[in-house]
Amino acid sequence: MAGPTQSRRRFLRTLILAAAGLGGCWRFLTPVRGITPREVAVPAADIPPGGALVLPEHGLAVTRLRDGQVRALNLTCTHLGCRVTATENGFTCPCHGSRFDEQGAVLTGPATRALYQLECQQDGDRITVRLPEAT
Ligand code: FES
Repeated sequence: MAGPTQSRRRFLRTLILAAAGLGGCWRFLTPVRGITPREVAVPAADIPPGGALVLPEHGLAVTRLRDGQVRALNLTCTHLGCRVTATENGFTCPCHGSRFDEQGAVLTGPATRALYQLECQQDGDRITVRLPEAT
């Protein structure tokens, strides 16, 4: 039969183990500050004025327009889905020759729709792009 001292020790041991377990799980229960796995951040200084920073691993380009605005474009061609490549004046699709300007608007077909813009925001010297949801 457990006395009051043993019962108190068992209670304290259980309490300590529960606190340790909860502490170990805490990092999985709280949101990560900063960027999420569905975002990518790039230094604003890496985007050339009037040019594009291409992130092939994410299939996107971050462009800085001549007026200083920043845009993020999905590099998937809106015609049949090939990957467009950055050029001096915008983007070109190697499959059927569609051309897009630096804002992603169609210059020549067969594509008829602009490149998809991704949500992005500048926070100081960092630009964060929200990646599209996986399909
Ligand atoms: S897939 Fe790009 S022009 Fe056809």
